[in-house]
Order: sequence, then structure tokens, then C-alpha cells
Amino acid sequence: MALIDPHSYTDSTHPLTTHISLSFYFDFASSTILSSAVLSLAAPYSGAFTLDSRSLSISQVLDIATLTPLPFTLQPTSPDAILGQSLTVTLSNHSQLLVIFKTAPSSSALQWLSPPQTFNKSFPFVYTQCQAIHARSIFPCQDTPAARIKYAAKLNIPRYLSAVMGAKHVCRRDPIPGECGGACDDSLWCGEGRVVEEFVMEQPIPPYLFAFAVGELGFREVGPRTKVYSEAIPGVLDAAATEFAGTEEMIKVGEGLFGPYEWERFDLLVLPPSFPYGGMENPRMVFLTPTVIKGDATGAQVVAHELAHSWTGNLITNKSNDHFWLNEGFTTYAERRIVEAVQGKERAVLNIGIGWKGLVEDMERFKDNMEFTKLKTNQQGVDPDDVYSQVPYEKGFQFLWRIERQIGRPAFDEFLKKYIATFKFQSIDTDTFLDFLKANVPGIESHIDLKEWTEGTGIPPDAMEPASDIYTKIVSLANEFKVGRMPNEDEVADWGGQEWELYLENLPKSVEASQVLALDARYRLSESKDYEVKVAFLQLAISSRCSNYYNEVEKTLKEVGRMKYLRPLYTGLVQGTGKEEEKIFAKRVFSEACACYHPIAQGVVESIFAKHM
Ligand code: BES
Ligand code: ZN
Repeated sequence: MALIDPHSYTDSTHPLTTHISLSFYFDFASSTILSSAVLSLAAPYSGAFTLDSRSLSISQVLDIATLTPLPFTLQPTSPDAILGQSLTVTLSNHSQLLVIFKTAPSSSALQWLSPPQTFNKSFPFVYTQCQAIHARSIFPCQDTPAARIKYAAKLNIPRYLSAVMGAKHVCRRDPIPGECGGACDDSLWCGEGRVVEEFVMEQPIPPYLFAFAVGELGFREVGPRTKVYSEAIPGVLDAAATEFAGTEEMIKVGEGLFGPYEWERFDLLVLPPSFPYGGMENPRMVFLTPTVIKGDATGAQVVAHELAHSWTGNLITNKSNDHFWLNEGFTTYAERRIVEAVQGKERAVLNIGIGWKGLVEDMERFKDNMEFTKLKTNQQGVDPDDVYSQVPYEKGFQFLWRIERQIGRPAFDEFLKKYIATFKFQSIDTDTFLDFLKANVPGIESHIDLKEWTEGTGIPPDAMEPASDIYTKIVSLANEFKVGRMPNEDEVADWGGQEWELYLENLPKSVEASQVLALDARYRLSESKDYEVKVAFLQLAISSRCSNYYNEVEKTLKEVGRMKYLRPLYTGLVQGTGKEEEKIFAKRVFSEACACYHPIAQGVVESIFAKHM
């Protein structure tokens, strides 16, 4: 036996699952899903067959033809903190198995919102976040991106709610007796006030792209293949429709650059503020934080990023998280090409600059753990959520940008198209990419040190900070702050959120409290409606020990659950010595706010505390 992925119990000698049929009965009262799953394998198998699971109660595994029980075990008995438990089933020449199980309220992929936690306050809401390794907390599977599955799903929900998935919607209809595959009794499945929403996913996807949301949902049409969904609140839906009106143009730009859009629909779902990411590239239905709806360029930027994953990530997928840069580095490059085409070069350069600063900062964060400054990493024994950083995004971007500079844009564009066409619907590793690069760009290795870029630590010498008039001006204004000069009104007159973000990121880590107050007195950054700006300012306030802003910090930590904001604010409060008051403050705020965070975000804040306290 051999493992193929440091984050999965999947055995290299076992056939991979190719299709899963799921029946889910959503029980909002207990925050659980009563479930059944039929797994179909690529080939019949005899012997001990292993799947991943986490916090699932497995009641039976059955032979699908005879409905006779198949022996199974869950190991280890006290679950591994990162991997969960392996579910091992004894098969005899089986190519299908039926598992009957239920999820736990603590399922790490699911956030269950009670009615008071939603915007409308009338109905419950539940949604998934499966990347990196949380699909196994919804259904047993080979939870490695090396596997690709098609699926069919029947979601049994209360009639007053509706469901969406990262899959094709088939129908909404009355429940039928006998169809739930043992997920629950027919009396529950066909109970009063229940409805079934059916979906199919006909393109094979890695398990981390499995996604659904159930709630009181509404939508607006924003393009020929795009609807935007959110909780059914006319104001939110209208704002979202305006924000994302340019989506079709971006899809067309993407097709021009990277080849046909293979997923048919590109719908968007705006989630409640507790959504832990800016965006998640679920196929056919991107999930988004509501914090991107603010009427400027950033909403489109996040959509450009998740859209770009339709080619890089969803079509070509990293084989394991050790090669995560293949997903995010390529996507960051592709995102910026789309942004450049629709918003212009200046905006793209500003984004590269914000990214550069993020890269430099994360290099500093990992100075005692240089493994995670590499593109190709070794994540054995490491929780991917704990080492999430800008490195795969920005160092990956820099690597591709370096290749583009070497061979010129037209040749690089042609290379990218060929790369995508060659490896689509496959999961690959860094070496596969490098071999393809060397084969298609002969001699590249004599100009670029490919080994240094992919296996070396830190920022390679031939990486490049971007340059443009606006970028250079903002960075030099930030440097002048160090000698006591603040920008005047004229200089910032046409600044939007991204300009302020870049300015704040380039200020010294900590300054005099009086300077923080003076900056805010002039520009009211602590009251910004733009969380990027507000959080960058609050970070400066925290690291400058300017406690005047701790109320605003508390308010922010209770309003949003996006980890991009939680991470720096909690880390700023608790890291370093002589910060007893801040530590007590952070613990109190977390204890009051954590019920509103997604379980993944709860886990990440807990591990920040564990590291620094
Ligand atoms: N796939 C990521 C989000 C993710 C990464 C979830 C790792 C779980 C584990 C997504 O595409 C992403 O990168 N989102 C960014 C958007 C940004 C780069 C525009 C985010 O959430 O901030
Ligand atoms: Zn991404």
C-alpha cells in the first residue's frame, strides 16, 4: 500500500471512485444531514478498500445488489486532527458500494446559520466550503484532488427553502417513496412540507469542488450564462447585479485568452458575511463574500480570479496540496490578464504591487518555517488551512510572469492555451508542468533557474516588483510617512480602495499612536466601508498599540468571518510579548464572535491562539 497524497488515506493500489450518487435529508433542527451515497469505482476490487471521512456517523455499508452488509472499520478511533478517519470497507469483487451515514453538527465543511444569523432573520441557511480537505466531513470519499468524480444529488429540504449546487439543476419536485437509498425513513423523506431538488454534475471534478447552499434564495439575471444568487433581499440582489454586470465580458476575455469555457453556466452566489473566503471557484456556481459588493473595481477582480479557475484549477487541478501553486499561481496570473483586458494595465499593475507586498510579508511570516516559502511544498503532517498564504499565489504569479518576460507575451499566450488543452480534466504535479514547459520552450532552463523557482526558498533574484507612475507614487508617499509627511488632499483625490490598500501596506509596520490618529483624523480610514482599507488601517493601529481603535476592531471581528481579515487582526493582537491586555481582549471577542464563524475560520483562529499564547 502507498499513499498518494499527504492529506488523504487514499491508497495508490485501489481503484478511484468515478461517480457518486447522493441523497441528503437536511435536518435544520439538529444541524445534520441524513445521507446515503452510492460510490462507483473505476474497476471491481477485492480486499480492504479505504475512503476518507471526518465526523461522519456511518451506520451501514451495503452491497448495492443484495443489500447485504459489508464489514467496515473507522481508524484511528480518536480521529487524526488533520486527516480525520479512514473508512475501510472489505470488498469482494465489488465495483459499487452503498454507505448510509449522517453528518455531525460540527462538520468542518458546513456552516449552519440559525434564522437570527441570516439577513432576513426568518429562515435557516446552510452552505459548504470543501477546499482544502473538508469534503470528507460531508460524505465519505477519496478526498484527494488526484481523484475526479461525477455525481448526482437529491437534496431533500423544507419547501420554503431552495437549493443551489456547483452542478446542473435538474428539477424541483415532490419527494418519491423509496428513492432515498436508506438515508432516512420514507415517512421523513416524504413528510409534509418537504421538497426535493435534483442536480447532476456531468464533468468530473476533484472532491474539493463539491458545493451546495440551502436557504431562502433569490436571484437576478446578469448575463446569458450568469445569474447572481443571494439571500432573497431585493437590495442585496440589486447591488450584486450591478456589481457583477460585467461578468459576461470577462468570460469572453477568458475564452479569448485560455480557450473555450467548458462549464456551460457561470453563476454567482453571494453568501452571508461569515463566508470564510473572498471567493471560492465552485464549478458553475462561484461562491463570494458579500464584502466585495462595494461598487468599485475589487468585486470584478475577485470574480476575475474565480472565473480564471475555470481553466486553471478546475480544468487542470493540482494533484495534491503540495502543488497548490499550480492552482493559485496560474489563476493569479490569469486573473491579472483578465483585469488588464477589462480594466486596463494601470489597474493590473496596482494589483501586482499589492500582491508583491503580500508576498514580501508572508516571506517574513514563514522565516522560521522556510518550507512554506517554496512553490513545491511538503505538507506531510501539516494542515493546509494553517499554512494558507500568499506564497503560492504571488510567487507562482511571479514565476509565470518571469517566463512571460523571457519568451514574450505572444509565445507565452500560445504556450498557456496549449498547456490547458493538453491537461484539461487532469490532476498534475509540478514536475509534469516543468516537463511540459521544457518540451515546449526548448532551452528555457538555460535562462531561468527552474529548480530554484520551484524548490528554492524565498524570493528568487529575478522576481520583479512592478512599476508604473501610480504605483511608484503611492509607494514613495508611504515612505515619506516615515519622516512625518502625510499625503495631502490633492494627492489622494482620485484614490479608490486599492490605492489606499497599497499605501497602508507600504507604511512601516508600527508608527507612533499620534500618527495613526492624525492619519485617521484626516482620511477617516477606520470608518471606511471598504474592508480592505479598514482592516489594513486597523492592523496598523493594533501594531502601533493605538487602543483607541479596539472598539472598531471588535466590531469588525463580529461583523465579518472572512479569514483574510480575521487572520491579521487576531494575529496582530496576540503575537509578541507584553500584550496581556490584547490577548485577553482577543480571547473575549473570539468567544463572543465564534458562533458566527464558519468552522474552518474557528479552527484557524484557534490555531493562531495556540501558536502565540
Ligand atoms: N480557492 C481559493 C480559496 C481557497 C483556497 C479556499 C484554499 C480554501 C483553501 C480562491 O480561489 C481564492 O483564492 N480566493 C481569494 C480571492 C482573491 C485571490 C481574489 C480569497 O478568498 O481571498
Ligand atoms: Zn484562487
